[in-house]
Amino acid sequence: MSCHALKVNDLSVWFETDSGRRQVVDHISFSINAGESTGLVGESGCGKTMTALAILGLLPTSGVGVSAASIEINGKDISSLNAAQRRAVLGRDIAMIFQQPGTALDPVFTIGHQISAVYRRHFGGSKKHLWQIMLDSLEAVGFSRAEKIASAYPHQLSGGMRQLAMIAMATVCNPVVIIADESTTALDNSTKSLILKQLERLQLQHKTAILLISHDLAMVRQSCRNVLVMYCGRLLERTDCQSLYSHAQHPYSAGLLSCIPQVSANRPPRISAIPGQVPSATDLPSGCHFAPRCIRVKPQCQQSVPHFDSEDDRAVACFRPLS
Ligand SMILES: Nc1ncnc2c1ncn2[C@@H]1O[C@H](COP(=O)(O)OP(=O)(O)OP(=O)(O)O)[C@@H](O)[C@H]1O
Ligand code: SF4
Ligand SMILES: [Mg+2]
Repeated sequence: MSCHALKVNDLSVWFETDSGRRQVVDHISFSINAGESTGLVGESGCGKTMTALAILGLLPTSGVGVSAASIEINGKDISSLNAAQRRAVLGRDIAMIFQQPGTALDPVFTIGHQISAVYRRHFGGSKKHLWQIMLDSLEAVGFSRAEKIASAYPHQLSGGMRQLAMIAMATVCNPVVIIADESTTALDNSTKSLILKQLERLQLQHKTAILLISHDLAMVRQSCRNVLVMYCGRLLERTDCQSLYSHAQHPYSAGLLSCIPQVSANRPPRISAIPGQVPSATDLPSGCHFAPRCIRVKPQCQQSVPHFDSEDDRAVACFRPLS
């Protein structure tokens, strides 16, 4: 029986605000196999980070609602764990690499101390053993002078080095799943490609499943096997990257791709840009949320929600997909 490394089943997230309920993730389901990377793309505010935080159970409990039929890691449901059980899973089974290393790295402890602490919490071990594991994890992400990095405080490292240290911290327990949320966005191109290379190497070595959240479709194409396209909290298209870039089926995906100059240089875009604005989460259009911006809209699109078959390798939520 095949077992997905990560399987998210019917996940929703909403905020209760003064202006009403904001549905920011709307019944999404997807899975990632061991050793595979899946990109999660979509315009700002479409719910990518909320999806990640809900999977990890890191959303606050007050004012936010989360529901899921299940969130499985290697077949084990983590959707209804209590705080202590969740602490046992975070870092060991699933880890997150944030956009800002400051979110994960504590300024008052050395890098070495923080990486060792993650491993110690899950597996324990002697000081000597922990020190060696920590140095190995720094070397595995490409630091040649691991001892020097281990004794540094976060502020003594450059942005790229802090990001690599955070990857070392996320991978020190060899988790089954890593979620990287815009983890290279603020970095220059050479640091970005170094970080992606290190992630790829670690992934090959440990068969980690990676959910790579990014605005950068070119990077997702380079790093991921599959891609999920999200809009207003819903998944609109799931396919392998090759197919998306050569032949996007959802008008929204095609619109996103048309904004990448190098893609339009090889293949004329079907839509030159996405007209209009992302609607407010408190005032979403009925039926297909993309309808007000879609040049292929038909009356049916405003009346019913197009189905998205999450079990299908190639799925598209559209009544008139591009052929
Ligand atoms: N505390 C909050 N209260 C109400 N709505 C919120 C709150 N935090 C986030 N949201 C809304 O949730 C939606 C999804 O936000 P999310 O951060 O997941 O977007 P995103 O896709 O990660 O965007 P970006 O690409 O800019 O990081 C947005 O519309 C945002 O305004
Ligand atoms: S369902 Fe209709 S409005 Fe929505 S993307 Fe498809 S064609 Fe456009
Ligand atoms: Mg985000």
